[in-house]
Amino acid sequence: MSESQIWDTVDEYVSARLSPDDEVLRAALRDSRAAGLPEIGVTAPQGKLLQLLAEIQGARHILEIGTLGGYSTIWLARALPADGRLISLEYDPKHAEVATRNLARAGLEKVAEVRVGPALESLPQLADENPPPFDLVFIDADKANNANYVEWALRLTRAGSVIVVDNVVRGGRVTDADTDAPDVRGTRAAIDLIASHPRLSGTAIQTVGAKGYDGFALARVVG
Ligand code: SAH
Ligand code: DHB
Ligand code: MG
Repeated sequence: MSESQIWDTVDEYVSARLSPDDEVLRAALRDSRAAGLPEIGVTAPQGKLLQLLAEIQGARHILEIGTLGGYSTIWLARALPADGRLISLEYDPKHAEVATRNLARAGLEKVAEVRVGPALESLPQLADENPPPFDLVFIDADKANNANYVEWALRLTRAGSVIVVDNVVRGGRVTDADTDAPDVRGTRAAIDLIASHPRLSGTAIQTVGAKGYDGFALARVVG
């Protein structure tokens, strides 16, 4: 077995036992694929991690930046109480439409809402509404803006909130300080911001699995 085949096999093993899919999650992936969406969402074990983090956090208000077909959105929204609320920001109207259908099929249309537009336009609009602080923010959109999204997350959260930034390792490309690649530069800026900001304490964890070698950053908003 090649290394990546082993990663696939272990993800299948873990998924079958600890993050089993169901008809709703399968249908969300099936419809996303049928609509031609790229298959770049979180894996089932990662989705379950997001759900667990939201549950551990006792989250009532969740913000997601980057919806795609709503697969990660479903895992996150399932952690919410009936009167909880998730807002997910998505640039591409087609992705948002597929996600909205997937969330309705999941019975989550009352708690989860997809807002269409570039997140850097949706975020100031959202801030103008003075929403209750988000308990968890999942950043998973255009990586070039990762540091901007962490800044916005700080404005929209409270002490104790959790910020997760997806895809911060990208096969190790994150360590390339001289690159011009906007995604790597944006991610390195986000890591530096987490490192230097007095109100953030964080780490980053490398992962392997069905979606390759990558990782996520986890930060907590302090005092
Ligand atoms: N969170 C999803 C995957 C998101 S993929 C999951 O794990 O299931 C990244 C998404 O971010 C894509 O749907 C892409 O259209 C969206 N995106 C890219 N640039 C964006 C922007 N500027 N504002 C909002 N969404 C953006
Ligand atoms: C990409 C984006 C993601 O959010 C992800 O989880 C994997 C890949 C991408 O843009 O290639
Ligand atoms: Mg991602």
